[in-house]
Parts: sequence; structure tokens; C-alpha cells
Amino acid sequence: MMRRATLLVPVLAALLLIPASWLLAQDPQMTLDSPELGPHRRPLVVFPHARHENAVGECSRCHHNNCDTQGKCSECHKAKADGNPVPLKTAFHRLCKSCHEETARKGPAAPPVMCGQCHK
Ligand code: HEC
Ligand code: HEC
Ligand code: HEC
Ligand code: HEC
Repeated sequence: MMRRATLLVPVLAALLLIPASWLLAQDPQMTLDSPELGPHRRPLVVFPHARHENAVGECSRCHHNNCDTQGKCSECHKAKADGNPVPLKTAFHRLCKSCHEETARKGPAAPPVMCGQCHK
């Protein structure tokens, strides 16, 4: 009895660990939480990155300006306006909303355009 119980422990542990690491490797949803914009006044935005890769196709539609696609927007877009192409919050809003509004106009998809649909 003792022997069987000690064998079961690592087997159960392995069963629990495999699906957890598999889910982490997938990372289909990103929670956008730029520290430069903190402390956040609105609820954090959950961004389904993998779904956008399928819907949009071109990485450079969002990761633009010869950005190597690994970069965070805040590498170029600083929170404050001085010496900055477009401040960080405006950069996010302009990119997300312009495409969602355009998509909604064409239909049938209706991605979020209201504050509470993204900040929830
Ligand atoms: C619809 C817009 C959009 C598309 C299309 C897109 N991404 Fe992203 N991606 C983002 C946003 C927004 C972030 C988060 C950036 C931030 O936190 O500043 C991000 C983050 C990333 C990150 C993680 C960066 C980090 O340091 O956390 C990688 C890697 C990445 N994208 C690669 C890609 C690749 C490769 C493609 C094309 C297959 C792609 N992305 C297509 C918007 C997009
Ligand atoms: C490698 C630097 C760099 C990175 C990284 C970067 N940008 Fe930009 N972005 C720029 C520059 C420079 C401009 C100024 C306009 C131009 O030259 O296209 C700009 C302009 C913009 C504009 C304004 C476009 C217009 O026509 O009004 C938006 C919106 C924008 N960026 C959003 C983003 C978002 C969102 C991210 C992250 C997914 C991002 N950018 C990452 C450099 C960058
Ligand atoms: C170039 C176009 C484009 C850009 C840029 C874009 N989106 Fe989207 N987004 C879409 C489309 C198209 C859909 C609908 C996808 C579908 O129905 O499968 C969508 C859907 C969504 C959804 C709803 C997903 C769901 O479960 O219904 C969220 C949330 C979202 N986008 C957040 C964002 C955020 C945040 C950004 C900016 C960081 C962003 N998107 C930038 C095209 C875009
Ligand atoms: C399409 C999605 C989307 C919509 C719609 C949207 N936002 Fe955002 N918002 C974002 C993203 C993405 C960020 C950047 C989050 C980050 O990286 O921390 C952001 C950042 C912010 C921030 C700075 C961070 C904070 O919480 O203090 C404020 C304030 C904000 N949004 C307010 C609004 C208001 C008000 C509206 C409606 C008029 C709105 N947003 C509509 C996606 C959206």
C-alpha cells in the first residue's frame, strides 16, 4: 500500500503539470498593461493576439516602422508627448479603433469600439 501511494504522487503531479505548461506556451490572449501608463484608471484590456494574427494577417499592420515584431509599442511611443511621434495611449487607441471602426463599417464582424467593450 505504502509503495503504491508513493508511486502515484509523481504520476499525478506530471498529469497536472503537462496541461498547465501547454496552455502557457499557447498564450492566445495578452493582457495589455504598459507600466508607462500606470496606475491604470480603466480595467485592463485583454487582447486576443492569435486571433488577430488570423484576422489581420500582416504583422506589419500593427508592428510597423521596421519594428522587428518583438518590440513593445512603448519602445518608440513614450507616454509623454515631447519628442514623440504619437504618445503611447493615443497610439494604442488610434491603431485599435481605426481598424475596428473600418471593419464594422464593412460588416458583418463588429469588433469593439466602445470604451467598456475593451476596458472590461
Ligand atoms: C492587430 C494588431 C497586431 C497584429 C496583426 C500582430 N500583432 Fe503582435 N502585438 C500586438 C500588440 C498590441 C502587442 C502588445 C505590444 C505592447 O505590449 O506594447 C503585440 C505583441 C507581440 C509580441 C510580444 C512583444 C513583447 O515584448 O511582449 C510579439 C513577439 C508579437 N506581437 C509578434 C507578432 C507577429 C510575429 C505577428 C504576425 C504573425 C503579429 N505580432 C501580429 C499587435 C499585433
Ligand atoms: C520602432 C518604433 C516603433 C514601434 C515599435 C511602434 N511604432 Fe507606431 N510609430 C512610430 C513612428 C516613428 C510613427 C510616426 C509616423 C510614421 O512615421 O509612420 C508612428 C506612428 C504610429 C501611429 C500613427 C499613425 C497615423 O497615421 O496617425 C499609430 C496609431 C501607431 N504608431 C501605433 C503603434 C502601436 C499600437 C504600436 C505597437 C503595436 C507601435 N505603433 C509600435 C514608431 C514605432
Ligand atoms: C488591422 C485591424 C485590427 C487592429 C489594428 C486591431 N483589431 Fe481587434 N479585431 C479586428 C477584427 C477583424 C476583429 C474581429 C475578429 C473576429 O471576429 O474573429 C477584432 C476583434 C477584437 C476583439 C474581440 C474579440 C472577441 O472575442 O470577440 C477585441 C477585444 C479586440 N479586437 C481588441 C483589439 C485591441 C485591444 C487592439 C489594439 C491593440 C486591436 N484589437 C487592434 C481587427 C483589428
Ligand atoms: C479597441 C479597444 C479600446 C477601446 C474601444 C478603448 N480603449 Fe482605452 N486603451 C486600449 C488599449 C489597448 C490601451 C493601452 C493599455 C496598456 O497597454 O496598458 C488603452 C489605454 C487607455 C487608458 C490609459 C490607461 C488607463 O487605464 O489609465 C485610458 C485612460 C483609456 N484607455 C480610456 C479609454 C476611454 C475613455 C475609452 C472610450 C472613449 C477607451 N479607452 C476606448 C484599448 C481601447
